[in-house]
Amino acid sequence: MAKLIVRGGTPLKGEVRISGAKNSALPIVVAACLAEGESVLENIPRDIDVYTISMILKKLGANIWFDDDSRLHVVPDNLTKEKAPYDLVRRMRASFYVAGLLLARLGKAEVPLPGGCALGSRPVDYHLKGFKALGADVSIEHGYVRAQAQELVGAKIYINRSSVGTTMNLMLAAALAKGTTLLENAAKEPEVVDLAIFMNSMGARIRGAGTDVIRIEGVESLKGTEYSIIADRIEAGTFMVVCGITGGDMMLTNVVPEHLRSTILKCQEAGLEIEEGPNAIRVRALRRPQAVDLETAPYPGFATDMQQPFVAMMAVAQGTSVIRETIFDRFRYVDELRRMGADIRVERDTAIIRGVEELTGAPVVATDLRAGAALVIAALQAKGETEIRGVELIDRGYEHIDEKLRRLGADITRISDDEESRHMESLMSTFSELG
Ligand code: EPU
Repeated sequence: MAKLIVRGGTPLKGEVRISGAKNSALPIVVAACLAEGESVLENIPRDIDVYTISMILKKLGANIWFDDDSRLHVVPDNLTKEKAPYDLVRRMRASFYVAGLLLARLGKAEVPLPGGCALGSRPVDYHLKGFKALGADVSIEHGYVRAQAQELVGAKIYINRSSVGTTMNLMLAAALAKGTTLLENAAKEPEVVDLAIFMNSMGARIRGAGTDVIRIEGVESLKGTEYSIIADRIEAGTFMVVCGITGGDMMLTNVVPEHLRSTILKCQEAGLEIEEGPNAIRVRALRRPQAVDLETAPYPGFATDMQQPFVAMMAVAQGTSVIRETIFDRFRYVDELRRMGADIRVERDTAIIRGVEELTGAPVVATDLRAGAALVIAALQAKGETEIRGVELIDRGYEHIDEKLRRLGADITRISDDEESRHMESLMSTFSELG
């Protein structure tokens, strides 16, 4: 496994350009495969997850490649296979978006049922209920979801709990259905809106994205288009917290401040100075962070993906913070923060964090993407050296995190071991061969 070696204690200063949003890129690359003809997607981050979804789509027959300017080209004309490969799908739950795509495009889909993951049990029952409502026969056989429909027909679907993945998968499935679909209690995340704008630019008729009722009028066909995706609000929030914990001064560029409202408010409550421009944010940490209480919630509430980074900052805050997680089972990583000297008690869905003055470097392991980010944040404040294993999990959703931090003055080094390099090389060469 690759490792990051971090020596903490330096206030990080300077400008950092925020990448495109991973959680927009994934469904948008899939949606591009609903069309006839090429789509050119800009601001796509070169995250491992983006490579994984692209590989799955290539295995299904699409042609996908990055050009030198980090634009992703998607030509889906030969996408004719309906069975998604288990080995790739099991790596990432968002792969399940191909179920909505295949059902809409080919009328049948065979996609492995995503298993549990580090965030606990994450069922896809709402997705399946939605496919059935659109007229598909759905069964689970030998670990695969099999869905089939002569014709998908628009329907009124109430999503039990505002779910990002379900909302997006049903937007994909319903775009070419006959008649109108109403998604009620739809997720309102900016990535849902981004997907809707992209699909509309391909010729879809989707209204209401960003509210809790989305109306999709099925169309006959979609055409490839050019599109630039939104900035990653979680990466931006992560850098705000890095600034807070290191006593830094940063300019974050290529951001949409409106998407960061809940993070900005909580960072201000913690004592950070924040100035917003039209697509930039200046963050300054002039004193030790103050303890803040919060609970995670669907957008526009405080994002669950920001919970772990924020807890890392609260670990050194003045006072005691109480943080409640309402979306996933997402506190396992606090054991690793404790190894760095954090004083955190977890009671069911709530972490009670008594801020200490300073963390101490230790060998730690990332258990998932955002947990890995939390360890990097903690390490940037800690006295001495922290060795973080499991970096490939961080690379799933942060583009060049070590390079970006180094440019801000961090003492951070990546050590790739041979096995990890071989895995990456084979991933990249398969990616090119498939193209
Ligand atoms: N749920 C069900 N059944 C379903 C679908 C969801 O019970 O069929 C539950 C989930 O278990 C969870 C809640 O509904 O308790 C909400 O889950 P949601 O479907 O909204 O999550 P997701 O679509 O699987 C996306 C992001 C996550 C992010 C969540 C919440 C992507 C690729 N993933 O997951 O991002 O935490 O929404 O905002 O968009 C990450 O980037 O690190 C990440 C995990």
